[in-house]
Amino acid sequence: MCCKDRVAVVTGGMGGIGTAVCLRLAKEGAKVVATCHPSETDRIDTWVGDMKTMGAEAAVIAGDVSTAEGGEVLMGQIVEKFGEVDILVNCAGITRDSTMKKMSVDQWDAVIDTNLSSAFYVTSPVWNSMVERGFGRVINISSVNGQRGQFGQANYSAAKAGLHGFTMALAYEGAAKGVTINTVSPGYIETAMTAAMRDDVRDAIVSGIPMRRMGQPEEIAHAVAFLADEASTYITGANLPVNGGLFIH
Ligand code: CAA
Ligand code: NAP
Repeated sequence: MCCKDRVAVVTGGMGGIGTAVCLRLAKEGAKVVATCHPSETDRIDTWVGDMKTMGAEAAVIAGDVSTAEGGEVLMGQIVEKFGEVDILVNCAGITRDSTMKKMSVDQWDAVIDTNLSSAFYVTSPVWNSMVERGFGRVINISSVNGQRGQFGQANYSAAKAGLHGFTMALAYEGAAKGVTINTVSPGYIETAMTAAMRDDVRDAIVSGIPMRRMGQPEEIAHAVAFLADEASTYITGANLPVNGGLFIH
């Protein structure tokens, strides 16, 4: 087991990739806390029940990670209820795709706040404790489109590229303190996020993936579990692509 008795927090934990990450970390022995947006609290009982059916225990705390206050209150509640956080997976994210011609300030701000600033808002309240205790694993879920850009995603690509900048900078600060921070950059994965894409656009993208298929959330969870592992002591500041060969560089 890679994370026995470690407290693991997964933002966006009830989403497609988040659920697979929670399930995997719980099976690896972690005490898992998923976070969800406050608008989704009516789904919590069903989600927790589904996790139990799959043989995993996980708790859920609601909070909006896209604001500084939301992140601080959320992490404060988690630490009070479950103890200090050992593993943090910044997974909450949204898309507001649009060509530059039509992109509104609201579309820009929503994606930057939720996909980039959230990592600061959520990591900041638990960072000092990780450094002081000499152990921490922070894993940021970026995207292939943060590495290569994507038509219609100036906001999303900027946020996801920025997220890896955050990883690299923080890696220097945690390196001598037993705290590693890494990025996982998924390709196109079968979740609600990609299901919302126009069929023709998605089909065209999938036909260009060397593995000729989309990824599964479990394939991302596998990469997260590897980086969260107690034994992954010498990997920090890395960006691990999990994209079926879509972007090889
Ligand atoms: N490269 C160059 N030109 C392109 C293009 C591309 N990749 N895609 C479209 N165009 C052209 C079109 O041919 C069209 O040209 P004409 O006006 O000459 O006909 C023009 O650009 C407008 O294209 P659309 O009709 O697609 O424009 P739209 O306004 O209807 O749609 C859009 C815009 C919603 C952004 C749409 O293009 C789109 O969905 N793009 C894909 C975005 C994407 O990949 N999102 C991923 C979501 S999931 C995710 O983000 C997870 C992850 O991390 C991987
Ligand atoms: P998803 O199923 O839509 O999950 C996204 C989760 O983020 C949802 O659970 C959502 O919660 C949560 N969230 C959004 N805004 C929030 C906020 N302000 N506060 C708290 N939680 C918030 O999508 P997914 O595919 O699993 O995506 C998970 C992560 O992987 C995202 O960061 C995404 O950008 C990234 N990613 C996905 C793909 C892909 O192809 N699917 C590829 C690369 C990277 P609610 O449902 O409660 O709103």
